[in-house]
Order: sequence, then C-alpha cells, then structure tokens
Amino acid sequence: MSVKIFRNFSEIATLAGAHHKDGRRLNHEDLGLIKNASIVFDQERILWVGEDKHLPDDILEKEYPEINMTGKTCLPEIVDSHTHLVFGGDRAKEYSMRLNGATYEEIANAGGGILNSMLGTQALSRSELLKLANARAKTIKAYGIGTIEVKSGYGLTFEKEYELAHIIHDLKNILRPDIQIINTFMAAHAVPKTFASSYEYMKEVVLPLLDKLGEEKILDCVDIFHEKNYFSDEDVVSLFERAKRHNLNVKIHADEFNDNNGAVLATNFNALSADHLLATGPLGIEALAKSQTVATLLPGTGLFLGKPQANARAMLDSGVKVAIASDFNPGSCHCDNLILLASLSAPIYKMSQSELWCAITLNAAHALGLHSQGAIVVDLKPRFSIFNTDSIDRITYNWGKNLAN
Ligand code: NIG
Ligand code: FE
Repeated sequence: MSVKIFRNFSEIATLAGAHHKDGRRLNHEDLGLIKNASIVFDQERILWVGEDKHLPDDILEKEYPEINMTGKTCLPEIVDSHTHLVFGGDRAKEYSMRLNGATYEEIANAGGGILNSMLGTQALSRSELLKLANARAKTIKAYGIGTIEVKSGYGLTFEKEYELAHIIHDLKNILRPDIQIINTFMAAHAVPKTFASSYEYMKEVVLPLLDKLGEEKILDCVDIFHEKNYFSDEDVVSLFERAKRHNLNVKIHADEFNDNNGAVLATNFNALSADHLLATGPLGIEALAKSQTVATLLPGTGLFLGKPQANARAMLDSGVKVAIASDFNPGSCHCDNLILLASLSAPIYKMSQSELWCAITLNAAHALGLHSQGAIVVDLKPRFSIFNTDSIDRITYNWGKNLAN
C-alpha cells in the first residue's frame, strides 16, 4: 500500500463532528476546521489527520512521499448526488417559453418536457451519448466534484433505457477511480404517449427491464418520478418492491409540484433519499426526521423554474439529514455546477456554513449509500476536494469562480 502525505494545507474542514452526528443538527464546530493541516493516507483509507506540527515521529521517520499543500484548502470530496446527465439535444426554447410566461406543466402537456428530451436522446447513438456524458462528467470534476450520480431516463423504451444503463456503466469504468459514478436506473421518468397509462408502461418496460439489469448487476440505485401525470403510489410500490428483490437501493423524486406524500412513502421504504421536496409539508418532514432517508434539495430546479424553494430550515431544525444536489438536466435545471448552486442557495435556505458543506459532502455521500466517505476522519476513504485558496470561506464567497485544484 503506497502511503502519501498531503502537508500543510492552509485550511481543512474535516466534517468530523458532522460525521459523528450523522449529518444532523450541526453547529459550527462540526465543520472541524484545522489550519496548517496535514493528511496521511493510502489508496484505501485515511491514516492520520491533524495539525502539521503534530505529525507523529513514527510516520515522519518512514519518509513517505509528501506533497506540499500550502495555500490550498481541503474538504471531504464534494458529491453531486442527483444528475440526469445522459441526454441528447437541449430545451433552450422551452426555457425562453417559461421566461415568457408558460409553466413547466403547460410545456410538458404540449409535447415538450421530458418527452422532448426523449426524442433528442433517441436520435443519438450509444457512442455519441457516451461521448457527451463523458465530457459533461469531466466538466463537473473540474469544479472539484469527485462523485457523480447519473440517472437514466430519457430513453423511455426498453431498448434505449437498456442502452442508457450500459452507457452509465461504461462511464463508471472509464472514469474510475478519479471520478466515482453511481448508476441510477430511472426508466420511470415519464410515460411515453404510446402507453395508455403509467401502469402499462411499468408492466411492459420498467419492471422487466429492471429484472434484466438487476441480473446483470450493473445498477446501484433505482429512482422514480412520483408526481401527478407521471407515476402513482402503486407504481412506486411495485418498483421499490422489485428493486429490493435485486438488493438495489431506492430513491424518489418526491413532492416537486404537489405534496403527494412522497417523502412519507420514501421513508416507508427506507429510501436512500427523497429529492426535490419543494411542496413537502409537516408530516413529510416529521417522517424524514425520524428516518435515515436523506432529504436532497435541488435549489437549481426551484431557481430555473421560478418556484418557491423547499422549506430547508424546517427540515434542518427537525433533525432531517439534508443534502444539496444539482439536478443537472436539459429541462428543469441546465446548470452542472453544484458549488455555484450551493453558494447561491445557502442564503435562500438560511443554511449555516456547517449545514451547507455537510449537504454537499457527507449527507450527499449518504444519499448514495456511500457511508465510508464524506469526512476527513481516520479509516474513511481518502476522497478529497482540493481548492486553490486558503480558506473554505473563499470558496462559497466567490460565486461561480472555479477555485478547484
Ligand atoms: O428532476 N422531475 C423529474 N425529472 C427532472 C426533470 C427533467 C426534465 O425536465 O427533463 C427533475 O427535475
Ligand atoms: Fe431529477
């Protein structure tokens, strides 16, 4: 095992306290800020962390390779736990239509929306889609984001959704270990017009395809758009039961347009996360607080669609584990920069600094079932995000400026 030492970061945020408290009810101390800090690690795990002047002699004696990090800042790896980055075409016209007064729902009902991106995606070959997805993942990595969840869901036929799941699998193999990709199956994203109901589409496409991909063991998670005109409670239950048979984690797009009890449904199935939650009321918040399900907020979507944002403060004050992700997709949030979105939304959500950083590191990792990363703590994985600036303050202060190493 080759051991290395990162020496003398100007500042690190270990998130040790947040890790200890499972990402809930955080104070400023839970950021675990250390000035002039060093980290000793091998490929598998963190071996030591602390002030450089306290580096133990028995480590220094071994003369491991050292990298000087003076002037830089280190955090647990930043994780984008919700993206839809495999798609063809764009929806710039729809964005302008919305600026001119149309709603997302009106555009979708008129043939735009997810079904429009389905056509753009179906028009591209497997290799064209892989090339696009690869370039998008590398752009995200260049912001300092090392783990990216990628959902399928713009194919919407058995064959194309099968292909998309394999594109994400290929992406995972091409990009590891620098970028860690999580493969989420989301054929239940919209119902194509050729099916009479969501039930028919689930029965003919989604469930049999989940069985096939489940047997191939290339998936990490399963997701569904639980919303009026998309997928019902019954669809969610049938999908989640089938996912459990294949030992797959489940996630849900919940309460985006209406409070449909999506958050409660998520907790009933011990989902890794319930995402969006713009309309979630007190019952959903209470259920989340009592559960391990992470509430993943997607501020870019609220901003892009001009909708009121999720009630983050009520969630945080009730002890919910809150993550923030980009929701990068062609229709409801065409922004791939999670650090920008998190910086922009912290004042909207009235989130403190510890809540904000935990939301894009530890809690975002937990939203993907990655419990062995998310803090700079001995024995956790050595996955870090490093920035060319001397304090974490400067990262969120510089809106939209890329300070990644
Ligand atoms: O997370 N809500 C469902 N899926 C995406 C929207 C995708 C689209 O509009 O293309 C979302 O917002
Ligand atoms: Fe989404």
